[in-house]
Amino acid sequence: MVKRFKWGIVGPGSIAHKFAGALKSIPEAEFYAVASRSRERALEFGRLYGVENEKCFGSYEELFNDNEVEIVYIAVPHSFHKELSIAALKSGKAVLCEKPAALNSQEAAEIIKASRENCQFYMEAMWTRFLPVIREVIDRIRKGVIGDIMMIQADFGFKAEFNPEDRLFKPSLGGGSLLDVGIYPVSLATSFLGTNIDKIFAVGDMGITGVEEQCAVAIRYKNGELASLSSSLRTNTPQAAHIMGTKGRIYIPDFWRAESAVIITEKGQENINIPYICNGYEYEALEVMNCISEGKLQSDIMPQEETLKIMNIMDEIAALIKY
Ligand SMILES: NC(=O)c1ccc[n+]([C@@H]2O[C@H](COP(=O)([O-])OP(=O)(O)OC[C@H]3O[C@@H](n4cnc5c(N)ncnc54)[C@H](OP(=O)(O)O)[C@@H]3O)[C@@H](O)[C@H]2O)c1
Repeated sequence: MVKRFKWGIVGPGSIAHKFAGALKSIPEAEFYAVASRSRERALEFGRLYGVENEKCFGSYEELFNDNEVEIVYIAVPHSFHKELSIAALKSGKAVLCEKPAALNSQEAAEIIKASRENCQFYMEAMWTRFLPVIREVIDRIRKGVIGDIMMIQADFGFKAEFNPEDRLFKPSLGGGSLLDVGIYPVSLATSFLGTNIDKIFAVGDMGITGVEEQCAVAIRYKNGELASLSSSLRTNTPQAAHIMGTKGRIYIPDFWRAESAVIITEKGQENINIPYICNGYEYEALEVMNCISEGKLQSDIMPQEETLKIMNIMDEIAALIKY
């Protein structure tokens, strides 16, 4: 019989709804508990997904103290990722925490230390990496379809409605475009070009609440490859990725939630289409359960060391754009 892992969701906000929907689509997962700062909100969320009333908690701590919960999914604003990831790990839970892992590399290092010290699985929920079409693109690149990668372009901008109380614009909640959506292009470039970086260049523009609202980043790697990355809360950018090699290129529309890609070489054009089973968040959840079943403390696809390296790059960009 297939083991069913008992999941607890912390922070029933907008992304938690998507993740809960994905969990309900996977036979190996049981959406067992939910925690909010308000019992009412926990009950309201839990009812939508069939969670028992007594497993809808009015504090995050109660969920961490429930012995039945095996995996905690943390979906609160970035500024609470460190504190809650560490609290869950110390309570003996495996943790899948939303991106970015933390506000900076120092916080990310503390989480990773807690994962090791408590012998509990931890992974940053960079869901894009687990999407089947991205796995296929990685496979094709490894097989040399486009030769050696020379350049990467990726952008993620959207026009957010301005609200100084919204986490996107609030400094105390880790606001700004870089941490919220800029992490996608940075993570994509890192997965293909690594961290053998020669120099990072970045410019940004601050909004009236004191958070950066858009930024443009250029990275030169030691072997001469270049990455051109951008993020914005002020405008809808194409949200596309282009990976350009010595023998061809790959275009990934909507790269952060990709279901298709186009490979363009001298031989012609090939379209790859791999639709999600549910809404795309099921793949990261499956990875967590597979890793735990194999006794791993981290994923090979989103290793903890890579989370740390990405946060180091983000720290450097943040330092350059905060003028
Ligand atoms: N992977 C993706 O595609 C994706 C998409 C969107 C967001 N995210 C990530 O998911 C995280 C949450 O984003 P979201 O858009 O879901 O956020 P959200 O809806 O604004 O907030 C999520 C929940 O966090 C809890 N929370 C705890 N302390 C809070 C505070 N001081 N202020 C506001 N909320 C607080 C709230 O739940 P209670 O008060 O009920 O406990 C709230 O419902 C972020 O780190 C973001 O980067 C990922």
